[in-house]
Amino acid sequence: MNLVVGSINLDFTIYVPRFPEVGETVTDGDLFISPGGKGFNQAVASSRAGVKTKFVGAVGDDIMWEVIKKFVSDEKMLETEIFILGEEQTGSAFIVVDRLGNNRIVVSPGANKKIPIDDLMLTLEMTKFSQILLQCEVDYEVISRVIDFAKKRGCKIFLNTAPFKSWVEDVYMSADFLIMNEIEAKLLCKSSEPSADSEEMILIAREIQGRTGKYVIITMGENGVVVKGPDIDSHFPAFEVTPVDTTGAGDTFCGYFSAEMLARGDIVEAIRISSVAAALCVTKKGAVSSIPTKTEVEKFLFSLSRSD
Ligand code: RIB
Repeated sequence: MNLVVGSINLDFTIYVPRFPEVGETVTDGDLFISPGGKGFNQAVASSRAGVKTKFVGAVGDDIMWEVIKKFVSDEKMLETEIFILGEEQTGSAFIVVDRLGNNRIVVSPGANKKIPIDDLMLTLEMTKFSQILLQCEVDYEVISRVIDFAKKRGCKIFLNTAPFKSWVEDVYMSADFLIMNEIEAKLLCKSSEPSADSEEMILIAREIQGRTGKYVIITMGENGVVVKGPDIDSHFPAFEVTPVDTTGAGDTFCGYFSAEMLARGDIVEAIRISSVAAALCVTKKGAVSSIPTKTEVEKFLFSLSRSD
């Protein structure tokens, strides 16, 4: 089983022709409401990839949880342990997406910052899992306790360094796979003033890998993915699609990648499948609502093979 411990939010996304300037109001946006949160998105992606997955997180006992609940129960293959905290608000994200599909996100974490540690540890003890997938949208204490537990069990640890937190350097040496985007890679990199092109990202991946010894995976949107590990040093180009909303693409990649590594353990194939899944995700609105199923990913790959 792939265990995902992390955040769950209600996402309020407004689609606008362009981002407002500071102090400016842009009107005529379309509102789309759907569940999100990096943890939940990644768990859904792992489950839709066809791997047994469990999500553990926390919400408030409020109207936002009422909305999310329906989506959670529709996700039939995904096991969940969601702690409902009466005193807290469910996490929420406010997302603006422009006509190119680029997003800007602000989050109110609410209950995600209050995951009850004792209940969480009990859940871990009672769950059989062979790997975990974590992000940084919950507290350091949660991440470090889960990592300690997973290490004692001999589980593989996938750490997505999003959103960047300074404490990530206190835990990343325990992970086996570090997955990050260009912004996080630059923040983690110790070399001087890197720019954001693929060549620079290859150097950054090598620097972080050399320092940590881990598999380092940098997702770069339309510029593809860079991977550096003890036995791999590659750049994978992205699959071409017309973007509608890039929200959740990184999460889709992480969920699919960890699922594929659990199912088959072939890193090159895992990157290929996850890149397709992330590409398909950006063609639809929302986070959870845009994560493709494995069948959709396979159909896309089949259509590519027919057009070769
Ligand atoms: O990565 C996308 C996610 O970030 C959104 O679903 C939002 O909830 C924020 O957590």
